[in-house]
Amino acid sequence: MIYAENRRFILETDHTGYAFCVTEGGVLQHLHYGARLPRQEDYLAGPVTFNQPGNALLDADGLCREDLLQEAGTAGWGDLRQPLAELTFSDGGRAADFRFSHFERPENAAPEGLPCALGGQTLKVVLKERSRDIYLELYYTVFEDTDVIARWSRLINDTEETVWVERLMSQQLDLPAGDYDLVTFRGAWAREMDMVRQHLEGQLRWSSAAGVSSNRCNPFAMACRRDACEEHGDVWALNLLYSGDHLGTAEKSAYHQMRLTQGMGPVRWQLEAGASFDSPQAVMSYSPDGFGGISRQMHPFVRRHIVRGYWQDRERPVLVNSWEAIYFKVSHRKVVQLARSAKEIGAELLVLDDGWFTGRTDDSHALGDWTADKKKLPGGLTSLAKEVTALGIDFGLWVEPEMISENSQLFRAHPDWILGHKDQAIGRNQYVLDLTRPEVCQYVVESMKAILGGAEVRYIKWDMNRIIGDSFSPAWPPQRQGEVRHRYVLGLYGILKELTEAFPEVLFESCASGGNRFDLGMLCYMPQVWASDNTDAACRAAIQRGYSYGYPQSVLGCHVSDAPNHQTLRRTPLESRFAMAAMGLLGYELDPGELSADRRGRIRDQITFYKAHRRLFQFGQLYRCPDAEGEQLTMVVSPDGSEAAGVHFAALNRPNPVQKPLYCRGLDGEKIYHLTNRLTEVRMKDFGSLVNYMAPIRIRAGSLVEKVADQVVKLPPDAIDRTASGASFCAAGFYPVQPFGGTGFNEGTRLMKDFDSRLYLWEEEKE
Ligand code: GLA
Repeated sequence: MIYAENRRFILETDHTGYAFCVTEGGVLQHLHYGARLPRQEDYLAGPVTFNQPGNALLDADGLCREDLLQEAGTAGWGDLRQPLAELTFSDGGRAADFRFSHFERPENAAPEGLPCALGGQTLKVVLKERSRDIYLELYYTVFEDTDVIARWSRLINDTEETVWVERLMSQQLDLPAGDYDLVTFRGAWAREMDMVRQHLEGQLRWSSAAGVSSNRCNPFAMACRRDACEEHGDVWALNLLYSGDHLGTAEKSAYHQMRLTQGMGPVRWQLEAGASFDSPQAVMSYSPDGFGGISRQMHPFVRRHIVRGYWQDRERPVLVNSWEAIYFKVSHRKVVQLARSAKEIGAELLVLDDGWFTGRTDDSHALGDWTADKKKLPGGLTSLAKEVTALGIDFGLWVEPEMISENSQLFRAHPDWILGHKDQAIGRNQYVLDLTRPEVCQYVVESMKAILGGAEVRYIKWDMNRIIGDSFSPAWPPQRQGEVRHRYVLGLYGILKELTEAFPEVLFESCASGGNRFDLGMLCYMPQVWASDNTDAACRAAIQRGYSYGYPQSVLGCHVSDAPNHQTLRRTPLESRFAMAAMGLLGYELDPGELSADRRGRIRDQITFYKAHRRLFQFGQLYRCPDAEGEQLTMVVSPDGSEAAGVHFAALNRPNPVQKPLYCRGLDGEKIYHLTNRLTEVRMKDFGSLVNYMAPIRIRAGSLVEKVADQVVKLPPDAIDRTASGASFCAAGFYPVQPFGGTGFNEGTRLMKDFDSRLYLWEEEKE
């Protein structure tokens, strides 16, 4: 709900309240962002300014902006913090003084050419620069159901002269003097989303200068009080619907207020007379219930207001991806074979990854030439897709349309289509196409339409495998080069809009070497993202946990791959790889045909199990349960609370372990649940020479006898079977089956090897 009365604005969601007012002089003063207050009158205006310190600046109305919580800080009028907007005027001056003009309640307002969250009610507050016809419009959209408020900003130049936009942030949040921490998610390729918590003194930033939102630092961040933790304490989350360079700042002022700003990365935009410039949309959410509270607001927000279209609420297919199965060694025969074995294990989609287009023998060739390689696929994509589809499995394809290899027909025809100078720092032997140019965008759209219109392709994995360094574009004069990086993103969004509208039922999965462009902007076009190239179960436990703070599992592509793992060379149990991947959108990144019949059978069983609980795994509400001795239990609970699943993941096994209960979260306290676990196999050979303690004959490790015994002797898997109320599972927890701790194995023992896991299932007992 939005209340606008007496120059006071209150934005209310189901549980939160956000308030600001107009000071006498017309500056927007921030009042409150936190719990929703009982009555409108409770949103009190604090003192306009506390201090009139000796060497601070006062404006014409005697206001000391350095010590004022504001909605739109600007430079040059005494506010020393990071501004929301910064301009250079035609005379070279930079001091801008934006004052309240009026407000409106627009029906449909969206930043030009940029993605926008769906639904909500919008308030537009218009500010005017005191001595110039330049307007700053602030757009606030309230999503009551998910306790999220979105913001974006527009600058309008109504003067006769050009001005320069030096900065236009999407949001600014000023919070009262206090002691705060900042939580950001940092990393690199194959180790995305490391949670980093820092105490805020001075200034901290979370940003990307990679041309993409990047795995170096995701746009999602949280600020919190120092005592906040998973389940308690005030937390404010921020995120951005943008896929290029971004910048977030957190600053503790001289008066200990905290200012948070977030928006696109540095830009220098020439704003001509009569023109306007829009920031991307940003979102914020407040919870008094710690990081977990934030996740349970951000997840449904992403599901309902960011992801859209045909796939928004639809269960996603289980896929087999060819990349780690055959890499560049693509052939018609191999792909059909892979499809056949994928079908046999119960997968619903076969994705042909890199290596299928003309001349693509390795990663130094052919990007840009989007026709099937006749040597590898003589019948082209059309016949391949037909043959795969005839097997009863859908066909999907990998593309990397924003890129161009020097070694390609496209480069030979258009060497000037690259972004940056020819002599530049290169990533993966490829250049980036200059998407600021309409003819380049048109080429991308047409080549993708030719693929999607020519063959039965149900899924596209849209990759982007390098970052943007040199972004010089010959299409723009020197003084406008500061616009290029943002124009690239606008070009990309234009392409994505056209393609996703033309092929609404195609399932698009965004990928940028895994999670190098994992953001709310891409999610407005593509309902899911390949979260990381790292499929090692132990690494995935950490990476997926990182994503889970801000993103639901319905957008996370998670695959089971071979052992040893191709990124870490680590062997983890097949069941752990499955359990981790099941907490997202399940796929397999291996050739099932190469596995033993026994392993294939186990995978078939995994897929059957996943399909039976698919809605729960993909769309259930996620809970990070309290840690037990560093071991994690992550649960998903169905909306009606009748069903839940949880993965208990352990890293290194220790003998004689301390036994602690696992405490559940999210179960309905009143309901009675029956708890079981997926049975994992116990192999005799896992015991090595220890079997000789029991075995009647001596068995040597690696010997034929061991092999035979391993096949014949069946050891019992641990099985839990408990019934209790949801209240009991949450408050008292449950003890998993007694673990094997170095001595004594019997039927009632749980063998947890390194990187082992258990997948638990809670089902409501109906009388
Ligand atoms: C990137 C992707 C991988 C795979 C390769 C193909 O690294 O993240 O999944 O598609 O490209 O070249």
